[in-house]
Amino acid sequence: MGQDRKTRVLRVNPEGDLSRLEEAAAVLRTGGLVVFPTETVYGLGAHALDQQAVQAVFTAKGRPGDNPLIVHIASPRQVDSLVREVTPAAWRLIGRFWPGPLTLVLRRRPHVPDVTTGGLDTVAVRMPAHPVALALIKAAGVPVAAPSANLSGRPSPTSPEDVLADMEGRVDLVVAAGPTEVGLESTVLDLTQDPPAVLRPGGVTLEMIREEAPDARWAGDRPSARAGGGRSPGTRYQHYAPRAPLVVVEGPEAAIPETIARLARDYTRQGLRVGIMAARETASGYPQGLVRVVGNRQDLRSVARGLFGCLRSFDALEVDLILAEGYASPGLGLAIMNRLRQAAGFRVVRAGEPGANGQERER
Ligand code: TXA
Ligand code: MG
Repeated sequence: MGQDRKTRVLRVNPEGDLSRLEEAAAVLRTGGLVVFPTETVYGLGAHALDQQAVQAVFTAKGRPGDNPLIVHIASPRQVDSLVREVTPAAWRLIGRFWPGPLTLVLRRRPHVPDVTTGGLDTVAVRMPAHPVALALIKAAGVPVAAPSANLSGRPSPTSPEDVLADMEGRVDLVVAAGPTEVGLESTVLDLTQDPPAVLRPGGVTLEMIREEAPDARWAGDRPSARAGGGRSPGTRYQHYAPRAPLVVVEGPEAAIPETIARLARDYTRQGLRVGIMAARETASGYPQGLVRVVGNRQDLRSVARGLFGCLRSFDALEVDLILAEGYASPGLGLAIMNRLRQAAGFRVVRAGEPGANGQERER
């Protein structure tokens, strides 16, 4: 299903002439599917108020229909046309973080279709900070619903190559403009709950949000319905998974490499092909395993930027198992660990604990 489209690729220079995007805008206006870059990851866009177009997004991704989409706009004022009320607190957040990787969940207006919101009475809205995304949405003249442009369950695409690996034949047009800057999807903040809840951590950190909304809280990696997590439909499904099973090793930073090295040795002895996702600082310390560098531990932005591409790189290496180094969770670390834990299906090993010697304790 969903593999019957001829996919054209339109290469654009973000700093160059963006008038060529008119062609892509016309495809969106007339109900087609256009992949475009944002500062976070590539998005699979459709006219957000056109039910058939949005339905086609779910088909192209193989996405469950109850997982709602983010609606992308090109100016802060456009939010008024989608939601019933923008509270003063919401305007404060918009003033500080838009354009940028912050998605706000607000009460929707009735004309926003059920298929876009997964039947919820709320809608998620964001204004991306990428010149190509902004020019495209503006030229289209309509709000653009766009999930990450990956097949459902796979890591989000941060380059045109990763987009085409998943979406060739499934979309009408791919606007290609190089790798994305942030690498992880936007922070999703639900302002219809009191206190406001971060449903998905991202490039705008919890600490940054609290400077504007001091009572904002993190709903957790696996929020229970009681904790308000039932409102974060995306958390119900497996996400970001590379082909091989992934195990994340967490704990005191200094203990992580030793635990991974030991696990790699044990699994290699069992005849398994082991991949290791390491930081630049620790990558050279592993005698066994196929090591890939995700970024620098000293610069978590580089880890965020490299994460999904690194996960995908293990597919080509045909490993049986991936061991990933964990990170401390303040700032961007919260979003990195959220994606890693989900990619691992919550297979987590605590470094330095007795159980970590080959018979890891799974939580
Ligand atoms: O950075 C991003 O947000 C990227 C780029 C393309 O903008 N988009 C993206 O979309 O990551 P997607 O569909 O992969 O993730 C949207 C997330 C999901 O976890 C979904 O459940 C949540 O936002 N979401 C959307 N609408 C919601 C709503 N009304 N209430 C609660 N959560 C919502
Ligand atoms: Mg996604």
